[in-house]
Amino acid sequence: MPEPTGNRGTGKAPVGVIGAGWVGLVTAACFAELGHEVYARDVVSEKVEALKRGEVGIHEPGLAELVQRNRDRLHFTTRIEEVLDAARLLFVCVDTPPTYSGDADLSRVRAVVEDLPAASDHVLVMKSTVPPGTGETIRRELGGSGYVSCPEFLKEGTAVEDFMHPDRVVVGAAPEHSASADAVAALYEPLGGEIVRTDISSAEMIKLASNAYLATRISFINEIANVCEEVGADVGEVARGMGLDQRIGPSFLRPGIGFGGSCFPKDVSALKLLAGNSGYHFQLLNSVIEVNELQKRRVVSKLTRHLGSLVGRRIALLGLAFKPETDDMREASSLVLSARLRGEGAEVIAFDPVAMENARDLLPGVEMRDTALEALENADAAVLVTEWPEFREIEWARAAKRMNRPLIIDGRNFLDAELLEASGFVCEGIGRPTGSSGTE
Ligand code: UDX
Repeated sequence: MPEPTGNRGTGKAPVGVIGAGWVGLVTAACFAELGHEVYARDVVSEKVEALKRGEVGIHEPGLAELVQRNRDRLHFTTRIEEVLDAARLLFVCVDTPPTYSGDADLSRVRAVVEDLPAASDHVLVMKSTVPPGTGETIRRELGGSGYVSCPEFLKEGTAVEDFMHPDRVVVGAAPEHSASADAVAALYEPLGGEIVRTDISSAEMIKLASNAYLATRISFINEIANVCEEVGADVGEVARGMGLDQRIGPSFLRPGIGFGGSCFPKDVSALKLLAGNSGYHFQLLNSVIEVNELQKRRVVSKLTRHLGSLVGRRIALLGLAFKPETDDMREASSLVLSARLRGEGAEVIAFDPVAMENARDLLPGVEMRDTALEALENADAAVLVTEWPEFREIEWARAAKRMNRPLIIDGRNFLDAELLEASGFVCEGIGRPTGSSGTE
């Protein structure tokens, strides 16, 4: 194969990206920012056309600016040949959603493998999350091409920052592809994070184990919060005291109404299934999933304790996205919570600063309002579901007057409870005595 043509004399390796979704786009834009020519392919022609016009179409802080700034170096196409001609390293960023059985759907990954010419010296760099073992299978199938596993640890809402300042970059490859792994590691070298060189299956496992562990910490602190409610302790204080132990550390100990998003729920289930498929019963992860499901529903019993039956009650949900700074509704706690509230006969009104368009079809019967204050109008209670910073700026005294009953369940312990109480609210958080202030 002739040398790829894409570096335009910069000396920096051109980068191919397959799949211009959230991971692909962040990867493409960040490599372009680092000075690489980037050739990104997506099968959805409308998306490609929009990207060519510089329209990003997803809410990710800093991404639109990065795409704008690097438009000269970013080449979007629907044609895989264009990418293959221009770049040797192909970052595979297609999605691997769970199937009905809970196993990962690898059809889009398989399609990429099939698109590779038989005798090619391209290197597939797998960013998509695949079950451990997948990479080894693909590597054996590939003729001349190299295979490197390079799992993704970006968080939605801070993805650009995470890419540019990684804690670590995991690069897994078989010994015969160590030169390909060197090339991938070299791309990330300027970013300064530790490069973890390992084999393919271990790299795949690092990704799943990291997400499952973080999810486990959240379910753990949520259970501690639930016990705190029983014994009159404050989980914010407990997490602070625990987090100072260097062996524990402070992150991912924020209690709430459950974790969501495109990764944690999927990856915890994937790891549980993977273990199960090979005959191992991963008990701990069963509990992590179950605690998370129950945590989303606990808000309903908090509300009934204050209001009695919820039939005909008007409940305002503040925030719908699975976390702030994203419009992503995947596995958001608001989905289960609103369905439960509607099931109890409540009327559900909602506001989210960016996710309402995505949420509309997913939340049948839920009425959306243009502002938080409008959502609170005549409500019998409010539930803070997503900790959008702007909810701290709500004029709570005004809101209290507009509500039928100034009751708020702060599902993320995010608001200043003292201020709310001074504004006339009854405020209940997660795992802390009613009447104590916010933890942040
Ligand atoms: C996660 C991983 O962090 C990231 O490394 C991986 O690449 C993708 O999955 P993301 O889903 O974007 O990232 O969000 P994250 O910030 O990790 O939060 C996930 C969920 O956990 C959110 O619903 C969040 O509200 C919840 N969470 C997080 C808690 O409930 N408590 C915490 O202490 C932290």
